[in-house]
Amino acid sequence: MRILLVGSGSVTAQLAVSLQQRGHSVVAQLPFIQEEILSGFDVDVALIIAPEARVDSTQANAILTKGTPVVVIAAAGAPLVAWAEGVGAPAFTYPPSSADIPDILSAVEQTVQADDREQAQRYVRETLGGDWAARVQGVLATRRIAITSPKGGVGKTTIAANLAVLFGLTGLTVYAVDADTNAGALYHHLKSYSTKGSLLAALHQFDQIRQQRHTGMANVPLGALILDKFVTVPGLPTVHLLPGVKSDQAGDAILNDEELVAQAISALYDIGVHQGGVTIMDVGINPAIPLHRAAIANADTVVILLKPELPDADQVHVWLRNMVTTITQELKTPDSGLEYLSQRVRLVFNQVVDNQHVEDMITLLRNILKEQGVPVLPPIAARIPMVPPDTAAKAVNSPDPEKIFILDYVKNGTPELSPFVSSLLSLGTQLIPVVAEGAERIGLFKQRRKKRWRFW
Ligand SMILES: Nc1ncnc2c1ncn2[C@@H]1O[C@H](COP(=O)(O)OP(=O)(O)OP(=O)(O)O)[C@@H](O)[C@H]1O
Ligand SMILES: [Mg+2]
Repeated sequence: MRILLVGSGSVTAQLAVSLQQRGHSVVAQLPFIQEEILSGFDVDVALIIAPEARVDSTQANAILTKGTPVVVIAAAGAPLVAWAEGVGAPAFTYPPSSADIPDILSAVEQTVQADDREQAQRYVRETLGGDWAARVQGVLATRRIAITSPKGGVGKTTIAANLAVLFGLTGLTVYAVDADTNAGALYHHLKSYSTKGSLLAALHQFDQIRQQRHTGMANVPLGALILDKFVTVPGLPTVHLLPGVKSDQAGDAILNDEELVAQAISALYDIGVHQGGVTIMDVGINPAIPLHRAAIANADTVVILLKPELPDADQVHVWLRNMVTTITQELKTPDSGLEYLSQRVRLVFNQVVDNQHVEDMITLLRNILKEQGVPVLPPIAARIPMVPPDTAAKAVNSPDPEKIFILDYVKNGTPELSPFVSSLLSLGTQLIPVVAEGAERIGLFKQRRKKRWRFW
């Protein structure tokens, strides 16, 4: 691990030796922290030996906000100890006894995010090439994606999971958030069964911080505090998941705390931005629920999934109108509804069996909206075909990550998934153009090209 030591006394020196003896690299040893110094070092963890350094909690926050975990050694009752408690960073009493040293070393080694990040970086380096990580971060425009629909069972979770994996495979750091209060099962679609963290746990942690703030606590950046509520996705080091609300938790009063929920959702989206990647939220169907509303209102792009079924058209239009009304109220710009629809909303048809059904639905929707004086239909970003039912059932029911459509295709070349993957790729690259290059690097286009070659 690459470690930044902040301190310049005898304890710092002793720790520097012990850490190097254990095979770590002490990237720098600084007596104080400055923003400009900080941006020059890429480290996995920072160890602050407070009495031997000039550091306050604002500076410790600056490190944490960068996504670097912090371990603190400070005198009992020092302000940094209270800060560490508030943000959940490990803290040890200064001066440490010789018996404390192994605990400090293992606290440094166990900073989970650092470990995750190392794995993710290794994945990107080895699979996509060393130049890719910097490049991919430089060109992202959309970083906050909400996926929702006017009806249940359309494929929100399926598409959210597959997009998350597609982005992760192409080298993006992905934060997938299950923001469906109706027993969302994104964890199941991503085959990630760790119960370590959840959206509800994150909300409660926000609440705790808010109370501490009221009692005069320093202004702690919210996003960095809940990184540890994300769980890992097996075999996909670039993808992180925040599991959702279980059905027996839906009555938790915190979900109705509008202000808290809005703050938390915005901070969760910001995590994607701060970590140089994207956040994808799987958002439940009712935009009147605070969590859903906040997830839609704060997104750069809202993907609305539709099934091409004519009986739904009327309901879809009412839902679209309500959603836009709700959002524009939220944005406090009542005239921007049309702009919002064409700039930030994308329609995606899923489970398409016959393209004519899509055409018919588009015509009907256009006519209904025109009658209502709405001249635009949001752009249609993709038509995703129906996967054969037995393959689809396997993806849902098997705990094996290789049954996730996109992974099944990448790893096993499963031919019946080729049309699905093509449309998913088209959607993914419209949202984030650089994904096309990443997909090329992992060979996602190879099979399609081979096929075309044969036809020529
Ligand atoms: N393109 C597709 N081809 C075949 N089956 C699909 C496709 N997309 C989704 N499904 C299937 O449709 C069902 C519903 O999908 P999913 O759970 O993703 O929908 P949802 O919109 O998240 O539902 P809910 O509102 O219950 O959360 C699942 O059985 C899934 O396998
Ligand atoms: Mg779902």
